[in-house]
Amino acid sequence: MKKVTISTLLKKKQEGEKITSLTAYDASFAKLFDEQGIDALLIGDSLGMVLQGHDDTLPVTVEDIVYHTKAVRRGTQRAFVIADMPFMSCATPEQAYANAAKLMAAGASMVKIEGGDWLLETVSGLVQRSVPVCAHLGLTPQSVHVFGGFKIQGRENEQAQRLLNDAKKLAAAGAQLLVLECVPTELAKLITESIDIPVIGIGAGAQTDGQILVMHDMFGISANYMPKFSKNYLQQSGDMRQAVRDYIEEVRNGSFPSEEHSFN
Ligand code: KIV
Repeated sequence: MKKVTISTLLKKKQEGEKITSLTAYDASFAKLFDEQGIDALLIGDSLGMVLQGHDDTLPVTVEDIVYHTKAVRRGTQRAFVIADMPFMSCATPEQAYANAAKLMAAGASMVKIEGGDWLLETVSGLVQRSVPVCAHLGLTPQSVHVFGGFKIQGRENEQAQRLLNDAKKLAAAGAQLLVLECVPTELAKLITESIDIPVIGIGAGAQTDGQILVMHDMFGISANYMPKFSKNYLQQSGDMRQAVRDYIEEVRNGSFPSEEHSFN
């Protein structure tokens, strides 16, 4: 079995093959997803909402992510493992280096950071220190109180232009992957075509290089509510393994996300 690396994901972008990913927080689900052939697993700070029951991701700590990253790593043989940098864990480059080191030591192969061009020094500093970085733009949930709610980003021209510029700058600073969350399909397509690194979308339409969903949304069991951009795959078959295979298949053949699960 060949392990998925960042080179595998880059090659998929170059060859037009879709990247599939899910969040995971424990060894059992990581193993189940891995065995069905998922490309990447994210230990997302969404765990604050779906595991801990908070209203947002802000209470999640670096220690929480370390704990869950260790578990996911133990359950994973093949997939690429990415760990989230939680709220305020990269307020300064020095904090980012120290916290990213904990996540890499816990078993992550890359860290994900939410935010735009204010993070350029942090991103290049991490990469220089051998920490691969996934950037995260659009509806970055750690900024929910700045946005005034979980709202689609990039609908206005100025905001869309800023997101496009941020994506280009973050890629130039050394980010090797980009998560784009809740932006209009057209903008996601433009950003995906404008940068050389793979773009993984969530609520960003079908034109990105791949998709990610929060696992509880994909199974339709989230404690909070079901986002418009997600789909309950468990409903189709009633079988968890089949649900994951259906998700992977629909991402690969481009049928998920459909218009119904996208924003225009
Ligand atoms: O925390 C998370 O699960 C995420 C995904 C929604 C991309 O950031």
